[in-house]
Amino acid sequence: MEKYILALDQGTTSSRAIVFNKKGKIYSVAQKEITQYFPKPGWVEHDPLEIWSKQAGVAAEATTKKGLNGKNIAAIGITNQRETVVIWDKHTGDPIYNAIVWQDKRTSDYCDQLKADGKEKMIQEKTGLVIDSYFSGTKVKWILDNVEGAREKANAGDLILGTMDSWLIWNFTKGELHVTDVTNASRTMLFNIHTMDWDDDLLELFDIPKNMLPEVKDSSEVYGHTKTTVFASKIPIAGIAGDQMAALFGQMCTEKGMVKSTYGTGCFMLMNIGDKPIISKNKLLTTVAWRINGKTEYALEGSIFIGGAVVQWLRDGLGIIKRSQDIENLAMSVESTDGVYFIPAFAGIGAPYWDQEAKGTMFGITRGTTDAHIARASLEAIAYQTMDILKAMEADSEIDIGELRVDGGATVNDMLMQFQSDVLNTTTIRPKVTETTALGAAYLAGLAVGFWKDMEEIQATWKEDVKFQPTKDQDKIQDGIKGWYRAINALQSWSKSK
Ligand code: G3P
Repeated sequence: MEKYILALDQGTTSSRAIVFNKKGKIYSVAQKEITQYFPKPGWVEHDPLEIWSKQAGVAAEATTKKGLNGKNIAAIGITNQRETVVIWDKHTGDPIYNAIVWQDKRTSDYCDQLKADGKEKMIQEKTGLVIDSYFSGTKVKWILDNVEGAREKANAGDLILGTMDSWLIWNFTKGELHVTDVTNASRTMLFNIHTMDWDDDLLELFDIPKNMLPEVKDSSEVYGHTKTTVFASKIPIAGIAGDQMAALFGQMCTEKGMVKSTYGTGCFMLMNIGDKPIISKNKLLTTVAWRINGKTEYALEGSIFIGGAVVQWLRDGLGIIKRSQDIENLAMSVESTDGVYFIPAFAGIGAPYWDQEAKGTMFGITRGTTDAHIARASLEAIAYQTMDILKAMEADSEIDIGELRVDGGATVNDMLMQFQSDVLNTTTIRPKVTETTALGAAYLAGLAVGFWKDMEEIQATWKEDVKFQPTKDQDKIQDGIKGWYRAINALQSWSKSK
């Protein structure tokens, strides 16, 4: 009987399931959108029950639509939007509040308070993170402080918490397993990336009982087996990684100095920095890349909150394109932005600036500016933000980045990829499978059960598709970059003057 790996990718906007064959090729896909709730400005929530039922639904659909059943699945790998956190009752399985999503800004004031109290250095040293509402810790505190009866129940040991991987596995195993992996743990702001354990000082600071937390596991091992009726047979769950770390693995960036950038809702660039954490001097994050057979590798990460989401805004907010893919033609209908710069800081601005107050801003608009210039400036902004991170990464790691591997939805856009290569002055490589996040989760799960026998066998399945080489005409590109920095400086002084 032919065997496959099922990767479950629980992302910010959708739940997906992808079945991969032994060659690392996509055999079947199913996907369902997730409802986004915005109860107040800056707040973003998901319904955990919807996430569970849609994820179970797509898992079954992707498997059965091509005539497979549970017996064909050698293992399940789980990858997920990181930081988004849910608290549930361990007796009933009922969430006590919606999942608070990574983009949610409700704890920004509390984060400012932590900074004013001088906690930045201690938190960065322990967790590798900067203080920001982005991470799970302050979101958990908010739920415990604001949901009636939550703190009492938590103190009584009735509540448990987890990122989406924990939540899904708990449900797939009918409450048998409460686990997470090192990559997801490293995004909570509660995990010490040196001791590789939950940190008592941080739990005390955020007033979170330790017994709420999941057990932290490797990224590739058999954690347990499915128990649900989704599959009649018991399938090993054998891989877990936060989506960006899964993508780093899926891009086979397994050597120190290798870098990938994923262009999704946001854009996330990660560099493999080997087995020692480098604490950033340039406001990047230090994070766990994965732990396999007990061996930890680390990554530097730069997070851009609005990447592909800017295209959605042009479509749904401004209405200047009908479908996301129309942006390429519109942007290419002009030769340049004619001096227009757009910083899509809709959710503040992330690395390397970290300004929670920044707002989306456009510069250089004249009577001659058209929707095409704005479309082009939007794509260029994605590339410029990626460049800012790459430069910070080179400075922190003292490694000259010679090649960037790219993946995610927006990488089908050749204009963006070429411009990316131009502003980075670096080769940009698009692989054959751009569903790298799911592929990484599949690789991790397949490795644990011997579906792929070792890293060499996995490496052989990874295939390059297109190589974008930087233009030789760097003078024009450098002028454009100068304009971008003027725009960033202006935005920063605007938001500071509040
Ligand atoms: O840190 C947030 C990130 O994991 C979300 O990724 O692809 O769901 O937007 P994505």
